[in-house]
Amino acid sequence: MKILILNGPNLNLLGKREPDVYGNMDFESFFGKLKESFKGADLYYYQSNVEGEIINKLHEVGFSYNGIVLNAGAYTHTSVAIHDAIGAIKTPVVEVHISNVYAREEFRHKSLITSKCIGLITGFGLEGYAMALAYLSNKTN
Ligand code: DQA
Repeated sequence: MKILILNGPNLNLLGKREPDVYGNMDFESFFGKLKESFKGADLYYYQSNVEGEIINKLHEVGFSYNGIVLNAGAYTHTSVAIHDAIGAIKTPVVEVHISNVYAREEFRHKSLITSKCIGLITGFGLEGYAMALAYLSNKTN
């Protein structure tokens, strides 16, 4: 079972970036914990600040992996191209946000990608990634 965690722009700064909103832990450390917790799955991690690289990664894994956990960062609210890429692939995608986007600025209330995802997890901090993995790693079809 192969699952990719795909993080978008500015999420390379987790741990340093607005810690009151996104917490103190960098994603690499958290990814180590996830690998411990989900030993039955092959977990992969990729981050890019570049919209086209995120799309390329969706295309690369989206016909062979069992699941993708996607935090598209600010592209969530702007990217028709990522919406279309999720619609074009076969692998199920779970949308995750660390913060509760609905408790923040209005421009974060609109996601262009939710309609192409299986579901949305928002506001549970980094734990949201574990929730998405729990779902995808138990999914039977
Ligand atoms: C985010 C929420 C987005 O609105 C924001 O642009 C991010 C992070 C989150 O994880 O809470 O970069 O996706």
